[in-house]
Amino acid sequence: MNMYILSALILTLAYTLRANEVPKVNINVNFEYFCSDCTKYVSEQLYPTYQKLGSILDIQLNTFAFYSWTNKTNPDGTYDITIKNLTEVQGTLIQACVMEMEPIDKTLALLSCMFTSPDYQTQVNAGKQCSEKLGLNWAQINECAQGPLGRGLYIQGFERMMAVKPKITWFPWIIVNGQHTDELQDKAEHHFMKIVCDTYTGPKPDDCKNL
Ligand SMILES: *[C@@H]1O[C@H](CO)[C@@H](O)[C@H](O)[C@H]1NC(C)=O
Ligand SMILES: *[C@@H]1O[C@H](CO)[C@@H](O)[C@H](O)[C@H]1NC(C)=O
Repeated sequence: MNMYILSALILTLAYTLRANEVPKVNINVNFEYFCSDCTKYVSEQLYPTYQKLGSILDIQLNTFAFYSWTNKTNPDGTYDITIKNLTEVQGTLIQACVMEMEPIDKTLALLSCMFTSPDYQTQVNAGKQCSEKLGLNWAQINECAQGPLGRGLYIQGFERMMAVKPKITWFPWIIVNGQHTDELQDKAEHHFMKIVCDTYTGPKPDDCKNL
């Protein structure tokens, strides 16, 4: 084939691809730090799938620690969501800050690292070691986690989760293209790569073949 025809073909192909831009698969994941189904899902399903199919995925993450909160009612009838035990929610604060500060690839790497770390229980150690290993700015992340920004993100996580419909009854709670059913949840939690491939309406990436 001569070069002229080849470049004309490539241009046509590029144009066609842009004209038919296929929507990415939108995934919304609600999770807690101390939740073995969440740590498994993030490190064994979500992150490995992202590494292969990141270009067709649009991921939003949302975290809150329902094991450590109180609803304090003020004299004027308003109420505040507060952290019950700050030590217990350090991992959540660190991850909420990273989710805000870093792009999704770095964020998923950090989550996966913390969730599989031998220091998982001592949350700040896991956060520090994983941040350093991944070349993230630990000083900045820690400053966020220990300060008002981290607490604001924590409350935001709570509010976003309370607004989810149908109501969250399980973690990780996975929403695929705005939909949540028991069947979708089960597939997304245990066969995530397959559901991403099945849901994507564009030409199947090579990694989707032979699933
Ligand atoms: C917090 O407590 C107030 C007052 O009892 C109640 O109206 C509100 O629904 C509670 N909020 C949550 C999120 O549980
Ligand atoms: C807070 O949580 C930490 C870590 O789980 C625990 O060691 C500590 O006893 C808790 N503090 C209170 C006051 O419950």
